[in-house]
Amino acid sequence: MTSITTQGYTIHFNNNGYTALNQHLKDSNYSKVFILCDTNTNIDCVPIFLANIDTDIDYDILEIDPGEESKNLDISLGLWETLSEYGADRKSVIINIGGGVVTDLGGFVASTFKRGIDFINIPTSLLAMVDASVGGKTGIDLGHLKNQIGVINTPKIIVVDTSFLETLPQLEMRSGLAEMLKHGLIYDENYWNRLQDLSQSTLEDLDALIYESIIIKKTIVEQDPTEQGLRKTLNYGHTLGHAIESYYMENANKERLLHGEAIAIGIILANYLSVKYCGFSEEKNNSIKRVIKAIYGHVDINKADHSPIIELLKYDKKNEHGNINFVLLETIGKPKTDCKVDNEVILEAFKFYNA
Ligand code: GLY
Repeated sequence: MTSITTQGYTIHFNNNGYTALNQHLKDSNYSKVFILCDTNTNIDCVPIFLANIDTDIDYDILEIDPGEESKNLDISLGLWETLSEYGADRKSVIINIGGGVVTDLGGFVASTFKRGIDFINIPTSLLAMVDASVGGKTGIDLGHLKNQIGVINTPKIIVVDTSFLETLPQLEMRSGLAEMLKHGLIYDENYWNRLQDLSQSTLEDLDALIYESIIIKKTIVEQDPTEQGLRKTLNYGHTLGHAIESYYMENANKERLLHGEAIAIGIILANYLSVKYCGFSEEKNNSIKRVIKAIYGHVDINKADHSPIIELLKYDKKNEHGNINFVLLETIGKPKTDCKVDNEVILEAFKFYNA
């Protein structure tokens, strides 16, 4: 797969990726390497990574617990303190080896330590490969509110090694797929159609689909890196999706939802709103719900949950002047940003999801 250059950094793939990374380490005169990983990627991915790396630079491994709970200020503080204690200076680099939690958190910690040191992303989950590691969003959650604190800052280089997906649990694959489905819906109907029959896909097909998702994301981000307009479309399904994710995270009696599982629900809800506000085809809306429910199943969202979920929308990062701004679709591939919707219609959307 050909490397992709965007916003001053390059995304490399598989073996070529390690060659490019070795060259980057050689050229950059780093004083020290800090590898940030979680307990799972430390076992499954770090040894493969190290076997492919050819450098004399000293390294330390910083390990966090897996999962969204690690993406917070306490863990960031612990990492800043460890970096300081282990003698990190401004020529140190953090290499993030993990899923979206590791790349978001590691990017944030690097971007703020000593006013910013270099970081490199080695995404190991499907979600991080097609979304989180690309585009420069770094950050942490504020309590259960997603991604409230952070900065936009790009990595020096990204290496996508798709062989890491061989050890990724099925549920995590499904979680990443939600972002790919979103890319199809906001950008390219043909891509959306091809994603629907993944059961027939070979590993090579999957590599090609991942590549296409990265191209879609980078094409959008390049035109609007700081999310003034077009980049908002990448939040399709995320307004209600993030609220649902936060609500399920803060309620001990609810099952935990992975990011993509919540986004899949958010997409069904946003599609319903698209029919109501943007003339999106009802037939396509029903077919999208069928496709998504066939992959993700049904999550119980009871009547009693609807209002508290709607209440959480006030924390959405796209809000401006007190208005909640949705991304909706006029048709597949034609998104519309800054749409206002009524709470009653959101309640109807929940009914549509449950039906
Ligand atoms: N994940 C959405 C974005 O990077 O803009």
